[in-house]
Amino acid sequence: KYAQSAQSGPLRDRIAADNKHQLLSVDQFTRESVEELFRVADQMQPIARRQKVSRVLEGAVLGNLFFEASTRTRVSFGAAFCRLGGSVCDTTGFTFSSMAKGESIYDTSRVMSGYVDAMVIRHPEKGSVAEFAAATNIPVVNGGDGAGEHPSQALLDLYTILTEFSRLGKLLDGAHIVMAGDLKYGRTVHSLIKLLALYRGMKFTLVSPPGLEMPDYLLEQASRNGHVIEQTHDLAAGLKGADVVYATRVQKERFSGENLEGYTADFQVNRAIVDACCGPDTIVMHPLPRDSREGANDLSTDLNHDPRLAIFRQTDNGIPVRMAIFAVLMGVESLVQHSLRDV
Ligand code: CP
Repeated sequence: KYAQSAQSGPLRDRIAADNKHQLLSVDQFTRESVEELFRVADQMQPIARRQKVSRVLEGAVLGNLFFEASTRTRVSFGAAFCRLGGSVCDTTGFTFSSMAKGESIYDTSRVMSGYVDAMVIRHPEKGSVAEFAAATNIPVVNGGDGAGEHPSQALLDLYTILTEFSRLGKLLDGAHIVMAGDLKYGRTVHSLIKLLALYRGMKFTLVSPPGLEMPDYLLEQASRNGHVIEQTHDLAAGLKGADVVYATRVQKERFSGENLEGYTADFQVNRAIVDACCGPDTIVMHPLPRDSREGANDLSTDLNHDPRLAIFRQTDNGIPVRMAIFAVLMGVESLVQHSLRDV
């Protein structure tokens, strides 16, 4: 499943070279270090499924600070910390934090550092989580900063792709990845394309409505290693030959003047288009949530019973991957194997 690796020294020092052990961007990873993290995630699987118990984070407290809506990221980070024996304190939304009274990011971060051992932060402004991180020395994980990055989501997405490819007997090098939907504001695809570009000979087909294309700086970054990048507004043409179809929600909440007229039912990934354009081994993914409201044209529910739909295997993988992130950033990953006991 993973390439051979001959790296040495603690993984957290290679991921976060500034000694602060924070995860703010997937730019912190190489192919070797990301696969080393996934080896730790594989070890976490029996604990994530409660077949085994570990208490390596007993006594540690996580501060889960979410200033923007979340179900998966907030709960799975909290569950991951608890599965390793720690406990969680959280605050949700600006209204229920003292930021509603004008407290700064700096003060909030400094205060929280005295209360907890690690923080996961989601904030609507790009760059804001880095601001939290700069004010503290405890581990900080970016749980999504506006239209910036969502590194833990991209890590669990890549882990899912590697796991699915292993099941199908396929290699990721040389794969054809289709990203479809709102590629301008979807932070998960911003992080994921950078991680996938760590592999060799990739083909990326980027399908978006006009005006919601992938930002140029990401296209430049992803094309540096000689990967093929094609952009189209035609979903059916883009899906042809896909190994992975990664659909995304339109992030209306981040729009600044765009109108939705270009986003019609023509951009919906559904059973008919997947049957017509994809093969039996194509994997269909989505970071979720998918928008189920009338006229949303997000990933269709008519694929729910299709084995190619990997979205719930993807969400399940959020727990072992986030457990691995905590274990590595907090320097306890080598203790996990010895700490295991039966349920
Ligand atoms: N994928 C994701 O970030 O989901 P939430 O917004 O529910 O955390």
